[in-house]
Amino acid sequence: MAVERIIDAEGSAAEAPEEQRFENTLRPQRLAEYIGQENLKTSLQLAIDAAKQRGEPLDHVLLFGPPGLGKTTLAGVIANEMGKGFKMTSGPSIERPGDLAAILTGLQDGDVLFIDEIHRLSRVVEETLYSAMEDYVLDIIIGKGPGARSVRLPLPRFTLVGATTRAGSLANPLRDRFGLVYRLEYYAIYDIKQIILRSANILGVELADDAADLLSGRARLTPRIANRLLKRVRDYAELNNDGKISQNIAQKSLELLQIDHLGLDAADRNLLKTVLEHYADRPVGVKTIAALTGDETSTIEDYYEPYLMQIGFLERTPRGRVVTKRAQEHLGLPS
Ligand SMILES: Nc1ncnc2c1ncn2[C@@H]1O[C@H](COP(=O)(O)OP(=O)(O)OP(=O)(O)O)[C@@H](O)[C@H]1O
Ligand SMILES: [Mg+2]
Repeated sequence: MAVERIIDAEGSAAEAPEEQRFENTLRPQRLAEYIGQENLKTSLQLAIDAAKQRGEPLDHVLLFGPPGLGKTTLAGVIANEMGKGFKMTSGPSIERPGDLAAILTGLQDGDVLFIDEIHRLSRVVEETLYSAMEDYVLDIIIGKGPGARSVRLPLPRFTLVGATTRAGSLANPLRDRFGLVYRLEYYAIYDIKQIILRSANILGVELADDAADLLSGRARLTPRIANRLLKRVRDYAELNNDGKISQNIAQKSLELLQIDHLGLDAADRNLLKTVLEHYADRPVGVKTIAALTGDETSTIEDYYEPYLMQIGFLERTPRGRVVTKRAQEHLGLPS
């Protein structure tokens, strides 16, 4: 589907440069600015303090969870808290072991290397990563055929931060090499409100408290969507109300965006309705859902399902996905 969805929560690579600049301005730099995820922060702070005290790099960190919850942000925060450099890449962009070698040998002692979408590393690159993570060495083959030989390259001691929306698609040997594994949770509405207030402050937008309440309920418990909603509502307010966001202005602009009080947009509602039309409350496979809506299977899995499951609109059963009664009621359909 080609329509731009505000709720897409689509990450880095697919994003317009303008959108990326906007996100970067709003990214917390330090752990103290990072709102919510309290358990994670406590544990991470402890690990960081201990590593610094020992004068060692932080253990490798795996971050997983739905898009837009703050994995990339947290990776940068880790580097800042360690007082070390930060380098960012992604699974699909490291094509060959040589690419990985170039990145790793370019690091300084203690640097943080962030690999986004780490589940998409190719097999050979992933295998090259094992010894790098474990012993800070790289075994690479030089040359081809009978003259080929293996050389062992020492590496700076680095911290790998891997991010994935799918912890399940990570090979066990890779997963086992992360000393710290964290699942990012959907945010409490209260935390989303704090994020919106913080962003409004940074952007210099006048935002009424009850407008912040309204927006925070519709952001799908996701910081990226919260910030995007704020941006769209700000645009609307600039054209209609001197840029001031009152509750009334927020309400009107959410209506324009067709975002309902649970944060669902037209595409979500369409998905639920289409599945109900064809399958009622019988289980249906994710591939079938994708075929029905014209989306990629991965789009369904990464962008629609997690939140629909979080709010109890979709259930995963051994025989497929089921749209729940609650969803039917929300859509105003007879159940
Ligand atoms: N805990 C937080 N406190 C304040 N702002 C946050 C927090 N987490 C994320 N954000 C904001 O949300 C936006 C999206 O976060 P980020 O890019 O880190 O998500 P992500 O988990 O990496 O998403 P993806 O999986 O799509 O790459 C950022 O612009 C950031 O400013
Ligand atoms: Mg990211």
